[in-house]
Amino acid sequence: MSSTSSGDTAPVTLATLREMKRRCEKFACLTAYDASFASVLEDAGIEVLLVGDSLGNVIQGHDTTLPVTLMDMIYHAQCVNRRRRRALIMVDMPFMTDAVPDQALGNAARLLKEGGAHIVKLEGGAVMASTIRLLSERGIPVCAHLGLLPQSIHKMGGYHVQGRDSQSADKILADAGILAEAGADILLLECVPAQLTARIVNAVDVPVIGIGAGASCDAQVLVLYDMLGITPGKRPKFSRDFLQDNRSVRDAVAAYVKAVKSGEFPGPEHTFN
Ligand code: KIV
Repeated sequence: MSSTSSGDTAPVTLATLREMKRRCEKFACLTAYDASFASVLEDAGIEVLLVGDSLGNVIQGHDTTLPVTLMDMIYHAQCVNRRRRRALIMVDMPFMTDAVPDQALGNAARLLKEGGAHIVKLEGGAVMASTIRLLSERGIPVCAHLGLLPQSIHKMGGYHVQGRDSQSADKILADAGILAEAGADILLLECVPAQLTARIVNAVDVPVIGIGAGASCDAQVLVLYDMLGITPGKRPKFSRDFLQDNRSVRDAVAAYVKAVKSGEFPGPEHTFN
């Protein structure tokens, strides 16, 4: 069995991640959608496997994540779970399966019961506070996804960096505090300027995972196929093709884990200001 930099082989829990944050030790997260990749990621010591609804893009070939269903998420979570050894499994709640608190509770429970999720992730700001409070009170861990929200792509009008002006930055900062207070166990920031990320990381006690959010996050996540350079089209600025400088997928994932933990990734060229 693989181990973290601290030599730990125990299952990763929320307490593990909180303790890593306290020790200023960064943790690594990647998306995983199937058993074989889950096994490779486990071997590399990834702490969090995200069964992301980005599977709608990279597995199913859709333009957005909107068509992804709860059954799709349960199926892929089950596939990942069969090769899970110690990583925490985070599973996305697909579009509108969390629109109403009671409905979100039932659907999140299915992701845990049937999919084997350890934590669910949902997108949205302060409007999600009552849902997060309900899930948290009922013992379901939650990661709150802020910044660029792919499920709101039509409302946002494109995949743009969020929080660039002071008003929208203050709103994201305020939302982060509200959702952490409501019981979110982890925050995930997507495509926000590094300066805003630093303010959020300082303002909340919970671990903050970033994607296109700069180096001050407690952890980084990338879409697996982006960091292997196999997603069709243009690679996002915040991603890096780790396979380019490595001989195998295993080496590329190991290089990613090392680069995240050492703080070498993301660099200034992957960061928005
Ligand atoms: O679905 C996903 O892969 C995600 C990442 C972009 C963080 O939410």
